[in-house]
Amino acid sequence: MQISDPNQPRYGDGDISFQAAGGEAGIRKLVDAFYDAMEQLPEARRIRAMHPDNLDESRDKLASFLCGWLGGPKRYREKYGPIRIPAAHSHLEIGPAERDAWLLCMEKALESQPFATDFKKYLLEQLFVPAERSRTRD
Ligand code: HEM
Repeated sequence: MQISDPNQPRYGDGDISFQAAGGEAGIRKLVDAFYDAMEQLPEARRIRAMHPDNLDESRDKLASFLCGWLGGPKRYREKYGPIRIPAAHSHLEIGPAERDAWLLCMEKALESQPFATDFKKYLLEQLFVPAERSRTRD
């Protein structure tokens, strides 16, 4: 058993997660792979249909949000203003199946990224929190 060192930097501290994701360029690649998965996976058909036909702005908004959320520059706020995740999704019908489809797209997207394996696992676990907060129905 390894005892973790409290002085060791950890994901979630400062901009460690942002750096582990390859900075803004790495996050944009992740989001591109995420929306590509959403276009391809049959499980994601319903959540794809909630989005506009053209995903350019959706890609930019999610990548901008994740930059700040991972401890990097607050790109979403700079470009689009303040955001609250529950309010941003309140007009959508998101239940557990839609939440899980979103997370499945992210799991597939993470598989193709050059991130550390423990960071991929950490990120997917952390994303459950805003995914659950996006849920608007049981
Ligand atoms: C739980 C399943 C989720 C579904 C089905 C979902 C779906 C959507 C849809 C359909 C939009 C509108 C897209 C557009 O008009 O361009 C949207 C916007 C957005 N979502 Fe999600 N989302 C989910 C979870 C998340 C999570 C976990 C995050 C963050 C980690 C997130 C971040 C955003 C952001 C930043 C926007 C842009 C809001 C705006 O500017 O209006 N979403 N989402």
